Amino acid sequence: MSSLPRPALAVIGGSGFYDFFDADATHIEVDTPYGAPSAPIAIGEVDGRLVAFLPRHGKQHEFAPHTLPYQANLWALRSLGVRRVFAPCAVGSLRADWGPGTVVVPDQLVDRTSGRPQTYFDGGGVHVSFADPYCDDLRAAAVRAAGPKAGAERDHAGPSGAPPSDTAKSAGDDLRVEDSGTMVVVQGPRFSTRAESRWFAGQGWDLVNMTGHPEAVLARELEMCYAAVALVTDLDAGLEEGDGVHAVDVFAEFKKNLGPFKELMRRAVSAVDGTDTCARCRVHAGVSLPFELP
Ligand code: ADE
Repeated sequence: MSSLPRPALAVIGGSGFYDFFDADATHIEVDTPYGAPSAPIAIGEVDGRLVAFLPRHGKQHEFAPHTLPYQANLWALRSLGVRRVFAPCAVGSLRADWGPGTVVVPDQLVDRTSGRPQTYFDGGGVHVSFADPYCDDLRAAAVRAAGPKAGAERDHAGPSGAPPSDTAKSAGDDLRVEDSGTMVVVQGPRFSTRAESRWFAGQGWDLVNMTGHPEAVLARELEMCYAAVALVTDLDAGLEEGDGVHAVDVFAEFKKNLGPFKELMRRAVSAVDGTDTCARCRVHAGVSLPFELP
């Protein structure tokens, strides 16, 4: 194990995001007490830093959101040395002003999944704090990654003369980035009904997704910093006028924005200060655990 590269940062790619490095990546098969992760873990470099990459759904999209080996995925990353994880994902938008192509760095999640193993601590006695499910340091790095253009865009009125919003920024020339939002995670694999979607929006929730839970809480249990970075692929059924959300359109929209989205993730990795778990994500300080973290 000691001769293996030890990446401190990782990116878990979502639907349509199956590779991260152009060349020269090392692929490592990792076994865990929870079985194999979704795919061998690729290790490459971004801006001189070793980074691990795992395609969440497998190389060929073999895993549906409700069958994903979430426990194995997070455990495998941690066992390689990873302490900070970016989790890009595709989402539906529950608000008309955040259309396809918008990137959102959520600050809250709502769990509407069921039956997914969501802890490493079945034995009881360990209850992690999850009030703020995402790491603020990583969220800030992802927002900073929107780049120097962000400041310029904020300082000047848009073409319509209207001042841009306080939080909207531009990632490169292509993606607009919103720096907070609430993501509801549904069980899937089906999309939501219009009534469900309207209900979610009525609660004040902004985004809908199928994989954000239990990934975030498992990272927290393993004391890894974790931030979702969500790319809007569709307006969810409650907003959509037509015949609802279709997977083929979701994938096509994701593919359209994949280049700039990957570039944003590379910049986010480069923008991270420090490679160890931040103080707020060290949730087991002073707690005696039934086993050592990998
Ligand atoms: N992922 C992308 N779009 C989605 C939607 N509308 N609902 C759930 N998950 C999604």
